[in-house]
Amino acid sequence: MDPKKRSGVQEKLEALGNKIAVTFGYAPFRDTVLKRLVPKAAWYQGDGATLALLLAIQVVTGITMTLYYTNAADHAYDSVQHITHQITLGWLVRGIHFWTAGIMVVMLFSHVFRHLLLGGYKVPRQGTWTIGVFQFFLVLTMSFTGYVLRWDERAVYAVRVVLNMFHNVPVIGDELVLLVQGGPQLGSLTLTRFFSVHVWVVPLLLLGLVAIHIYLVILHGITTKAERDQAVTTAEEHKELYTKASLSEEHGERFHPHTTFMTGAVALTIFSIAFILALTMGPREMYPEGNLVSQSIPREEWWFWWYSALIAQLPPLIAPVFYWVFPVSLFVGMLLLPLLDRGPNRGARKRPFWAVFVVLCVIGMLWLTDLRTRSPWTGWPDPIPPSAPGGVVLSEKSEQGRQLFARYGCNSCHAVSARGRKVGPDLARIKHLLSRSELHSFILAPPEGVAMPKYRGRITEADLDRIVEFVLVAQTFPRE
Ligand code: HEC
Repeated sequence: MDPKKRSGVQEKLEALGNKIAVTFGYAPFRDTVLKRLVPKAAWYQGDGATLALLLAIQVVTGITMTLYYTNAADHAYDSVQHITHQITLGWLVRGIHFWTAGIMVVMLFSHVFRHLLLGGYKVPRQGTWTIGVFQFFLVLTMSFTGYVLRWDERAVYAVRVVLNMFHNVPVIGDELVLLVQGGPQLGSLTLTRFFSVHVWVVPLLLLGLVAIHIYLVILHGITTKAERDQAVTTAEEHKELYTKASLSEEHGERFHPHTTFMTGAVALTIFSIAFILALTMGPREMYPEGNLVSQSIPREEWWFWWYSALIAQLPPLIAPVFYWVFPVSLFVGMLLLPLLDRGPNRGARKRPFWAVFVVLCVIGMLWLTDLRTRSPWTGWPDPIPPSAPGGVVLSEKSEQGRQLFARYGCNSCHAVSARGRKVGPDLARIKHLLSRSELHSFILAPPEGVAMPKYRGRITEADLDRIVEFVLVAQTFPRE
């Protein structure tokens, strides 16, 4: 080919490219954002790009599923089954959506921990952090409302947990329950609300906040090595250091292609983990279809295991308050953090308190998660005690025991006369009847390997007596 001609074509293409860049406003974006000089990013600073990529994948796979999903309570479950088993590659799309959701929660926590270590919320990035706190809670809301849409037993149970949580909030509790439920009863409207929240309300808010967050990251940059090495108190000081690092031969780089390449590689690596999990393990298995009559099994998604194990460790009287007070205080605490901690030091080495704090949190969460995998117990208390079958009259003591049965969370695992949860045996159907003293010692310290918590130290002698009295009577309840 004639080289002159080729370069003619090339020239024309270039001119066209330029024209498009000018017409659609890409040129200033390219020159001020993409090509700007920034301080070199470390590999772990690719976690932000990872979150952005995972979110984008969630949006794409989520929208794909809305093409088939039905948000009516009597069809939702079947439509998810349909997506999983009949639609070509439906299982993969669901699988990717599920696994990226879980990994996103993990990455989100690590993103927050990283900024606690570094002091990423300090001047001038308080705004970036504050927006991030809202994003944090919105993503958690997504990760929760999402699995409700399957409308299987797990979903219905999860809704009950949240309703219970809201119910315990003082003053406005009942209004909150009505708001979430969509009426006086749990039902079709509840699912419609969760759908609307999961598909419209939260994603729109979240995408808007992500845009502001990214804008602020561009504006104020990422925490640089220079900031970690030297104390920074004012925004001016920060700007000076930041500009110096950006322009320096040794510490600076061009955002595109250098930073984008490195953070993109981190993001793709993490996404491939989600993708491989989706390929090999598929989407989440479905429990039997949720029905609103029988009590379902307590199973939350794995990213919440640490939290339910934490609640399970608390004394039963504190748990119902703790499980709404904890998220609220976390939210307030995170919002106040940039105001409370205004010290000039950044970087893990200069922030030993936060280093210890983060390490303890991570160990604690892993430990609790492990505990949860070995016990089906979720401590989500069910306030309604089991009822005695018609015709059975309870003594005063065993009636007190019946009430305590719920107070101590026995009914979060044990049914009595077929009503209630089925983690442990139905106490009205025990094969080998237990004596008073056997019951005493069993409840205080169940044998090793039994998925029931030890009650020793968590229950008074008098309360234990009452519960045992109730279980003794329950053993004699008429069997159908
Ligand atoms: C984490 C769920 C859980 C909680 C909470 C729980 N249990 Fe259990 N419980 C179990 C499981 C699981 C077993 C079955 C043990 C086995 O495999 O033999 C069991 C067994 C028992 C048994 C012996 C049943 C038999 O067949 O021998 C009794 C009695 C009992 N639990 C009473 C209670 C009482 C009373 C409470 C409340 C103070 C309570 N449990 C709380 C899970 C739980």
